[in-house]
This record gives sequence, C-alpha cells and structure tokens, in this order.
Amino acid sequence: MKKKVLSFILAATMMTAMVAGCGNSGNTKTDEPATNTQDEKEDAADDKEDAAGDETDAASGDLSTKKVGVCIYQFSDNFMTLFRTELENYLVEKGFSKENITIVDGANDQPTQTGQIDNFINDKVDVLIVNPVNSSSAETITDKVVEAGIPLVYINREPDADEEKRWEDNGWDVTYVGCDARQSGTFQGELIKDLGMDKVDLNGDGKIQYIMIEGDPENVDAQYRTEFSVKALTDAGIEVEELDDQVGNWQQDQAQQLVANALGQHGEKIEVVFCNNDAMALGALQAIQSAGRTVGEDIFLVGVDALSEALENVINGTMTGTVFNDHFAQSHSAADAAIKFLTGEKNDYYIGCDYVKVTSENAQEVLDMVK
Ligand code: BGC
Repeated sequence: MKKKVLSFILAATMMTAMVAGCGNSGNTKTDEPATNTQDEKEDAADDKEDAAGDETDAASGDLSTKKVGVCIYQFSDNFMTLFRTELENYLVEKGFSKENITIVDGANDQPTQTGQIDNFINDKVDVLIVNPVNSSSAETITDKVVEAGIPLVYINREPDADEEKRWEDNGWDVTYVGCDARQSGTFQGELIKDLGMDKVDLNGDGKIQYIMIEGDPENVDAQYRTEFSVKALTDAGIEVEELDDQVGNWQQDQAQQLVANALGQHGEKIEVVFCNNDAMALGALQAIQSAGRTVGEDIFLVGVDALSEALENVINGTMTGTVFNDHFAQSHSAADAAIKFLTGEKNDYYIGCDYVKVTSENAQEVLDMVK
C-alpha cells in the first residue's frame, strides 16, 4: 500500500534513478573447516549437505532458513530507526523468519560494531547488512566478511570510491545501497531559492546570510548536504554569507544548543538555517522559537529526512521545507540485494535511489505515506 503511494509520488516528482544492474564477476570464497577426526569429517559433510540444501532453498525462493545479520550504527538515530523497522518488516514479507534476523546496535562505537560483525561471522550468518559507524572502517570490515565468504550489503554511510572499486575489481559480493546526498543538498538550496530573494533577503543587502548545522562530518551525507545546499544558491547567482557552521552530529539536542548560541551571537542577521537532517532541524526550531523568531516570517529553516514531526511542521509553516530520504526504497533495495546474493545472482556495486523535495504543497501527501 505504502509502496504504491510512494511509486506514485516518485513517478510524479522525479526521474527514476534506481540502478539495480548486475556486476559481471563472482566472489565467494568458502573456508573449509579443519577436519582432524572422523566425527569432524562427518560434521563437515553434514554442513556441506546443509549448505547445499540452503542453496536449493534460496534458489527456490525459500529464505526462511537464512540467517541475516544487521548492524546499525546507532539505534537512537531517528532516521535509522525508521530504516531498520522497515528493513525487518520487508525481510519478513520476502520470506525470512523473524527469529533469523538479528539487528544490533553499534552504539556509535566502531570497536563495538566490529565485535558484532565478528560475532555474526562466528555465528555463520548467510548475509550481512552493515550501516558502518565509521565509513572509513569499511575496508577492514569488507576484508573479514569477504574472507568468511559472506555477502555484504552496506547501507546509509557510503564507503569511499577506492573501497567500492576494490569490490568491483575483485568481483566480490559486496554492494552499497543509498541515495546520492548531493541531490538532497541541492533540494535544500532550491527550497530557499524558490522562495525568492524578496522574501528571504530580510535585511535587503542582496545576500543570504545563513548558518549551517552539520551531521557527523565523517559521513558523506553531511559533507555533500553542506556543500550542495549552498551551491544551489550560488549556482543560481545568489550571493551568500556564512555566519556560522557547526557540527550537531545529527542530534536534536546538540543542534538546539548550537542554534541558540548562533542566534545569541548573530541575532536578526540570520536569514536561513540549514540543517543536514530533520532531527537537528527540530532542535533548531526549538531554539528559533525560544528566541522569539518566526519561521516563514523572519527566518527560514530546512532539514532532510521527512520525519513525521518535521512534515507536520512543514504543513503548519513552522519549517520551510525538508527532503524525503526514502527509507522504504533504501531498505527494500538492501533486502533485495541481499536476496540476490543469496540466490546466486550478482548486484551492481552501487544501488541508488532518489530524494524528494518537500514543501507545504506535498508535505501532507508524504506524511500520509510515511505514517
Ligand atoms: C540521515 C540522518 C542520519 C544519518 C545516519 C542520514 O542519511 O539523513 O538523519 O542521522 O543518515 O547515518
């Protein structure tokens, strides 16, 4: 049902960008267990039979015996909560058993997550879906998971281009599923540009004065949204002045404090508040309201994700706009990629999706779909 509405919105608002093609070479190195005694040999033979049976099950579409390990960088992240809930539901819808899906919280700590990956490898999961705490750890993660012969689907935090190239060059069963964060940044800038200078340039100096509240700076989503939101304005010939740029680590409370400080320091000069995600935009809104400012009248505020609360604010005019970060498409593509690996098919090394720009015009429609 939600999928249908989503398809409609996507078809109506943008070009299709889902790329789910096939890579052209294979991977999977399976380590044979050491067999020192007759019993162990028999066990190994049994394991082989089980494995052969599993392959047949998967090929015939029976995924109910397959074990899926899912690592999330941090459970308390609002967006990743939507993502993992949908991922689990969709995996079950596709035929996996709920008890064979294990989702763990990396607590925003890479050593914790690395230990969880080791445990999944020891437990011989059939496929791993990983939202890395640090995308720079991807090389180490990939090496150990590939070595164990387990297919790997990265989500949400994109490893760098060199790492993705390694998967391709080696023909490994590894892929990344996510949206191109440049697009979300561009949409944020356009949300402001589309209001027109007469409205946004409150002090009439011919420039847009803004503050930027960034997510985790290691994360490419934060880097691109920061860059491309402003670029959309300058590309349109609009002059900008950055009054402040702070790191709120994707978190509402941190953003509230940072925006309160910035408002204290720069006051009325601030015309626009860009936040790399909605959680931080909600924090920014609290600070804006405490400072007696009114979004849409004497300040403008944009986020990314389309959390329900943010969409309600867009509908009420207490946020200027947001950008829908499609957790349905991303979680479904991640599960579909995992299924392809399990059934012996290949995946492209990058599986993308599109963001959707959200204004007061379509916010209700998006809210009906995400709720
Ligand atoms: C989302 C953020 C989230 C982050 C986690 C981003 O794509 O927009 O809300 O905190 O992913 O990595």
